[in-house]
Amino acid sequence: MKKDLLSEYDLERSDYEAVFERSHYLKRLLREGKEHTPLKGKTLGMIFDKSSTRTRISFEVGMYQLGGVALFLSSRDTQIDRGEIIADTARIMSRYLNGIMIRTFSQASVEEFAHYATIPVINGLTDLLHPCQLLSDLFTIIEKRGGYEGLKVAYVGDGNNMANSWINAAAKLPFRLDLACPAGYDPDAAILKRGMAEAPAGVILHRDPAEALRDADVVYTDVWVSMGQESERETRLQRFKGYQVNQALIDLARKDVLVMHCLPAHRGEEITAEVIDGPRSVIIDEAENRLHVQKAVMEILMQ
Ligand code: CP
Ligand code: NVA
Repeated sequence: MKKDLLSEYDLERSDYEAVFERSHYLKRLLREGKEHTPLKGKTLGMIFDKSSTRTRISFEVGMYQLGGVALFLSSRDTQIDRGEIIADTARIMSRYLNGIMIRTFSQASVEEFAHYATIPVINGLTDLLHPCQLLSDLFTIIEKRGGYEGLKVAYVGDGNNMANSWINAAAKLPFRLDLACPAGYDPDAAILKRGMAEAPAGVILHRDPAEALRDADVVYTDVWVSMGQESERETRLQRFKGYQVNQALIDLARKDVLVMHCLPAHRGEEITAEVIDGPRSVIIDEAENRLHVQKAVMEILMQ
């Protein structure tokens, strides 16, 4: 694996498999109550420019379980918000810390940070990508279905960071990805073009969610208003009508379909309460897996 985890596209199939194998192992060790502290004496810095429940807690707890400590660094309380440049921040932090997780707006900022940092940098979500979530999602699918090869994943809703991450993974791994997004809310054009050209099992963009959902093994959705888009809320709620993951749509998928969502969810908007709390939903396991998968990533990158 490379020094950093910035994009799913930087991972080869063997990297994905290494993360999944290690995640299984770490999850089992934790279940058995066995101590495993390969990161003893190490420190992870966590820079947050956006809110978080799962990412913050799973990284912090994961680091603790691996024997290290995590520092929560809100940009408001550091010199970052007062204009200290990325190059200086990255070089200085590299002298204190053993790894950095960053959640921010711009993917370019995380890449610039990684360029100057001499320690591993992990993307904890940008406007463009959410690789830690995507790895946990695939790991959950493997747990539930034994693998991802040959499966059909349907992504319904906004062509946002999660959609882009799914396309990047489909460019490397043999599962088919059918997206359904309303016009004007497509995934990133360059990522989509590359994904369509390179995906071993195919990436298709539909307008009609029913087409994407038909016979799907997995149905995935995410919020219609991502962090930073709050001012577009009313327009978005109008434009996404018809893209709600509800029982009628789920009935088009396979009977054993897995319903997934990165969370937080807005019940009654992108997904109904009935579906998110229903028998096909694996969202709570999916959220738990953030912990195991990120521990695997940290162990691989920071040991
Ligand atoms: N899915 C996810 O990243 O959740 P948080 O925003 O709570 O970290
Ligand atoms: N698309 C969402 C994901 C949250 C985990 C957002 O960026 O707000």
